[in-house]
Amino acid sequence: MGSDEAEGNTCDAHRILGLPDVEKRLCHLCMIEIIVGTNRPESCSSKVADKTLGAYKSIGAEARLLSLAELPTSIFAPTAYETKPDAFTPFAERVVASSGLVVVTPEYNGSFPGILKYFIDMLPFPESFEHRPVCFIGIAAGQWGAMRSVEQLQQIFGYRNAHIFPERVFIPGVYKYMHKQGGFVDDKLESRIKHQADGFTKFIDALQV
Ligand SMILES: Cc1cc2nc3c(=O)[nH]c(=O)nc-3n(C[C@H](O)[C@H](O)[C@H](O)COP(=O)(O)O)c2cc1C
Repeated sequence: MGSDEAEGNTCDAHRILGLPDVEKRLCHLCMIEIIVGTNRPESCSSKVADKTLGAYKSIGAEARLLSLAELPTSIFAPTAYETKPDAFTPFAERVVASSGLVVVTPEYNGSFPGILKYFIDMLPFPESFEHRPVCFIGIAAGQWGAMRSVEQLQQIFGYRNAHIFPERVFIPGVYKYMHKQGGFVDDKLESRIKHQADGFTKFIDALQV
């Protein structure tokens, strides 16, 4: 095997983060990050993200939640565009080291939440999204299930050369179809999330070959 080929098999995230080289397939740091796209307390998005995490675990995928509610307040200083606070580093590292991103977004005023756009703007460019597999789940009180939010996000991630998984999940009428504690009224929603999780993990594997 030539040296170029060997380099192609190593984890890019480790190189970018200055960590020792590791083969992509053996990398245990790289996992699917499920981004909860709002910082609203007790959000339905966080409950759907919990269900989504369960779906990935049920198929044996490495995944965890990345909640925007946990962002350090120091990231909101105007100086953060120029100099990122140390407390933000773990968030950026997790995105850059991820094998894929699942963005769970609510619909706020016909779009996705401002905090999610701000998070995107704070992440390292271009390595955060360049060629990174991404998939989307939308949640809304209204009948369109955050389709607008997801499609606007697809534009941004397309602009940033992410690999967008085409199968999206939309959850409309969330207060009708979700129990207050977090379970779905209709099992079909859970099976759609599982179907997406199954397809997305195969998509990630196919891109890594
Ligand atoms: C600031 C704000 C704006 C909202 N705008 C919309 C909207 O445009 N369309 C809609 O269907 N629901 C809208 N909602 C309702 C959310 O879709 C609903 O709260 C849903 O539970 C998802 O948001 P959550 O994850 O914060 O719970 C809005 C909610 C908030 C807090």
